Amino acid sequence: MHVEGSNGSYLDIGVQALAIAVFKDEKADDGFLMDLDKVTGGVVKSVIESEELKGKEAETVYLHLVGNSEIKAQRILLVGVGEREEYTAAQASQMAGTAVRALRGKSVKSIAIVSRLEGKADEVSAAVVEGSFLALFELDKYRTADKEEREIERLVVVIDGADEGDLKRGVERGRIIGESVNVTRDLANEPGAYMTPTIMAERAREVATEFNLSIDVLDEARMEQEGMGSLLSVTRGSEEPAKLIVLKYTPPNADEAKNGLLAFVGKGVTFDSGGISLKPGESMELMKYDMTGGATVIGAMRAIGQLKPSIPVLGVIPCTENLPSGKATKPGDVVRAMTGKTIEVINTDAEGRLILADAIAYAKKLGATKIIDMATLTGAVSVALGDVNTAVLGTDQELIDELIAAGKEAGEKFWQLPLDKEYSKQIKSDIADIKNVGGRRAGTITAAAFLKEFADGVSWAHLDIAGTAWGDEAKPYRSKGPTGVAVRTLIRIVTRAALKCDGGS
Ligand code: BES
Ligand code: ZN
Ligand code: ZN
Repeated sequence: MHVEGSNGSYLDIGVQALAIAVFKDEKADDGFLMDLDKVTGGVVKSVIESEELKGKEAETVYLHLVGNSEIKAQRILLVGVGEREEYTAAQASQMAGTAVRALRGKSVKSIAIVSRLEGKADEVSAAVVEGSFLALFELDKYRTADKEEREIERLVVVIDGADEGDLKRGVERGRIIGESVNVTRDLANEPGAYMTPTIMAERAREVATEFNLSIDVLDEARMEQEGMGSLLSVTRGSEEPAKLIVLKYTPPNADEAKNGLLAFVGKGVTFDSGGISLKPGESMELMKYDMTGGATVIGAMRAIGQLKPSIPVLGVIPCTENLPSGKATKPGDVVRAMTGKTIEVINTDAEGRLILADAIAYAKKLGATKIIDMATLTGAVSVALGDVNTAVLGTDQELIDELIAAGKEAGEKFWQLPLDKEYSKQIKSDIADIKNVGGRRAGTITAAAFLKEFADGVSWAHLDIAGTAWGDEAKPYRSKGPTGVAVRTLIRIVTRAALKCDGGS
């Protein structure tokens, strides 16, 4: 899809269809809609007065314009966007997504989007383009029939009077971020057979080569040397070798000693059967997406390599399968993590925290001073927050607040859960330093309490994306399946931190 910005009037854009935002209960008697009504021969007023369109979020009305010479496009799609006062970049992004999906369904090949969001042209255009790319992702890669073959060839973001440079920059940023989120979704969607730790490392290497990131992939021998007994205990049951992927973005003149180093750590379990503590068969196929935390890191780093912020960023992704076999770790086994801590493995299905423990320790060894880890870690998070909010926990309240604020900008919701030290009692072991499960109560919190044991001495936040990384239903603005949650927020965390750093120095 070719994407461009236009700072002229929407009347003059030669596309097949114009998509136009309409606010809730907006009338066509004055202002923007009155002008639109005039050039479309009264059709807008008619649609609104007949109450066919009330302007509620994601409502659409599709109209062919016949015999109009004042407007170049032949069709318009009116898209409800809800309350004007609540209309932000996140909503404009969804509006664009809804428009793109609806118009693709009508075989439209060229679209101009009039989001009507007030604000800086670079932010508005980035939001619109981001939302458009996210909307186009489909799950049908492995279908041979009934594939979505229709394609939008040209997208124009219209912001009347915008500065050309701002518009261009925004469009480019939106494309980079949108495409990168889709890379995460594509990785997450791959079946376990096509997304082994080895393949995941290859995919990371391709991204690194293309987008100026350095990469190091530790094999099991090197993990052994590093003393990563916790990570290695998870891969014991698998025939596929584990990999620890390390990506790094380094800007020119980075001063890590002075400014510290931000690291993203993502769970990369390419298939989670539960191991000897085998999961029930129902829905086990979904456990192919247990590497989404890792895919999130790859997607975010891919964007960062292109956006070139002024601060360095490290990405660490422990990749393994979790399978039962005669060699697999058994419940009751005791393993030694890289930090020297001993862990009693009560349940081999609580494997995510075991691999993250060593990955967090390794990120610290590489100089990380601030760590955000993300993982499809617990089923319990869906019980607590459903598929709406991602759980955030951690030891640095400022970092958590930043994540929540960046998420708001990006249209991704984070909800903080408590992490009082009392919860750590639940993971005390009778025979080792800690155990890997804390009983049935507060499952998301005790998982985080486990990770906290390895994140001491750094500023740390943890995202449990098990409830939000996969959408069971399609939305008007995106397909069902992998959502790519948190990629956009992480990118904003980096760009915000870079701005602060530039301002401060
Ligand atoms: N990968 C799962 C968590 C998960 C569940 C992700 C559902 C996505 C959807 C994780 O490794 C796991 O199995 N966690 C256990 C922990 C328990 C044994 C303490 C769980 O949540 O049941
Ligand atoms: Zn598990
Ligand atoms: Zn898992």
